[in-house]
Amino acid sequence: MRVTVIGAGTMGSGIAEVFALNNHEVLLSDVSNDILNNGRKKIEASLEKFKEKGRIKSVEDVLEKISMNTDINAQESDLYIEAVLERIDVKRDVLSRIRSDAIIATNTSSISITYLSKFVRNPEKFIGMHFFNPPPIMSLIEIVRGNSTSDETTKKIVEISRSLGKTPVEVNDFPGFVSNRVLMAMLREAIIAYEENVASAEGIDTVMKLGMNHPMGPLELSDFIGLDVVYDIMNVLYNDTGSERFKPPITLRNLVYAGKLGRKTGEGFYKYK
Ligand code: CAA
Repeated sequence: MRVTVIGAGTMGSGIAEVFALNNHEVLLSDVSNDILNNGRKKIEASLEKFKEKGRIKSVEDVLEKISMNTDINAQESDLYIEAVLERIDVKRDVLSRIRSDAIIATNTSSISITYLSKFVRNPEKFIGMHFFNPPPIMSLIEIVRGNSTSDETTKKIVEISRSLGKTPVEVNDFPGFVSNRVLMAMLREAIIAYEENVASAEGIDTVMKLGMNHPMGPLELSDFIGLDVVYDIMNVLYNDTGSERFKPPITLRNLVYAGKLGRKTGEGFYKYK
């Protein structure tokens, strides 16, 4: 199958890698060659890990499956996956530029699929396909139908998800779906506990890791997801529901304004290196 992935950030490059690992021909597209090269470096680093484990024989063979181009229509694909910033204006621009009648899936983590379907040519062929970070490791794909998504499109995406070795779960088009509705409420509460000095950042994370068996504590996980992404998702949830339980905490806002976005910038709730 030929797949176009638009957005070469953490999620887009990881999604491109998942398809390439499963022998699909991937076009990875983003606005600049610098961003595409960074995406390639992330994919290479991840493939190196798989090679060390003996899961793949050659990094180059998988990389060869991925071509890169700033033109999102450079390859005629059977599936297009949008994985750009979590901003409606950016998504609208990208979705409306896809010149194909193939299925288009969005990796949005919080924006309504029905709303985004206004920007594509065939709303019945538009669906949410929500991967988790890091995409090559995490086995869930949250499948979200919009108001117009057809049964055929849903069936196809469920099948593709299974063929990638992932577990698809169908959820309805509610703010944050299941994953971020539950996750953001937890991350927000942890950030407020930190603001109120209930415990140190390490203390809060250790409680959740050792007491709840979470692989990462909530503050460490926020840094891992990217504080700008967490902030954007909370804003969508807060605007769409009007509920205080998703109101982005000031500490989070200030870290984002200061450019301290977590692991990717070297500082967030923690300092890296
Ligand atoms: N590519 C390939 N392999 C990778 C990898 C990558 N990108 N990242 C980690 N690995 C491998 C490691 O090599 C290691 O393999 P072995 O066990 O065989 O040695 C294994 O995965 C575990 O990695 P590490 O030992 O480096 O570190 P870890 O044990 O802390 O695991 C982790 C890393 C898998 C990320 C784990 O910490 C984890 O599961 N964290 C929580 C992740 C999570 O919750 N993700 C969802 C975020 S929310 C989201 O994405 C959706 C949204 O809308 C916001």
